[in-house]
Amino acid sequence: MNEDKVYHVPVLLQASVDGMNIRPGGVYVDVTFGGGGHSREILRRMDDTAHLYGFDQDEDAERNIIADPRFTFVRSNFRYLRNFLRYYGCEEVDAILADLGVSSHHFDDSERGFSFRFEGKLDMRMNKRSGLTAADVVNTYAEERLANIFHLYGELKNSRRLASALVKARTRTPIATIDDFLAVVRPLFGREREKKELAKVFQALRIEVNQEMEALKEMLSDATRVLKPGGRLVVITYHSLEDRMVKNLMRAGNTEGRIEKDFFGNVQAPFRLVNNKVVTPDDDEQQRNPRSRSAKLRIAEKN
Ligand SMILES: C[S@@+](CC[C@H](N)C(=O)[O-])C[C@H]1O[C@@H](n2cnc3c(N)ncnc32)[C@H](O)[C@@H]1O
Repeated sequence: MNEDKVYHVPVLLQASVDGMNIRPGGVYVDVTFGGGGHSREILRRMDDTAHLYGFDQDEDAERNIIADPRFTFVRSNFRYLRNFLRYYGCEEVDAILADLGVSSHHFDDSERGFSFRFEGKLDMRMNKRSGLTAADVVNTYAEERLANIFHLYGELKNSRRLASALVKARTRTPIATIDDFLAVVRPLFGREREKKELAKVFQALRIEVNQEMEALKEMLSDATRVLKPGGRLVVITYHSLEDRMVKNLMRAGNTEGRIEKDFFGNVQAPFRLVNNKVVTPDDDEQQRNPRSRSAKLRIAEKN
């Protein structure tokens, strides 16, 4: 891999850190540390008595650890947010930032199998020590389950045809590499939309391999419990499924969007929306950083 490449350019940096409302002595969490771009800005705004915990499940992120006594790196999936904070003796926090999905580093490292630009193993695990690879999913899941993944996580119109072609191909020989995989799925897309559609196929597999929706749901539930009253939840999403979950949690207090009312009919929501409209990157940021184009920022305050 290319060591000179920038690990990741942070998205919506100022607006998201503004949303955290950094105060003297506060306790903060960046649950998606990555290249540490957001964490560095949070630390810059913190005083000497404040503390920041940075989570990342990918061991590659460890190379970006910030040497600062006010910072603690936690190499873990953020679905265990509350347990790990407790381990460090922290029961309550003032703000949590989540900048979801994968980093540019994941796409740029040919060995990780996230990008159809490279040859290599069909892997896609953010945590290289976790069991299931994209090849495992493609070679072992039942046809219907594969079709569901492409439909749900990739919003692909030809999800059934994709699943059927993969199942047919794998009975001849296992699909081990990105090239093997592309040889099966590429012919199912027209030339002009090929890149866009392949990006969706890869996104769908990545979400399944990393159990992203399940982890997000658990993290959001933990976040609701550990935030202090007045504490901020700041989330940047990159696709409609995760955005819907975050929106539901912030509006209704659960990821399904179930409105719960008390005896008098008052809505029982644990959050107040700080921005009613989602914040998106301006034209300048979208130009400079094409990855930011699908980003949506939502901010809520705990009641
Ligand atoms: C979009 S990047 C964050 C980039 C970061 N904000 C920056 O400025 O460099 C997302 C990061 O979160 C990590 N990540 C994604 N899902 C995770 C999870 N469930 N638990 C822990 N880390 C996760 C990825 O490994 C990746 O490094």
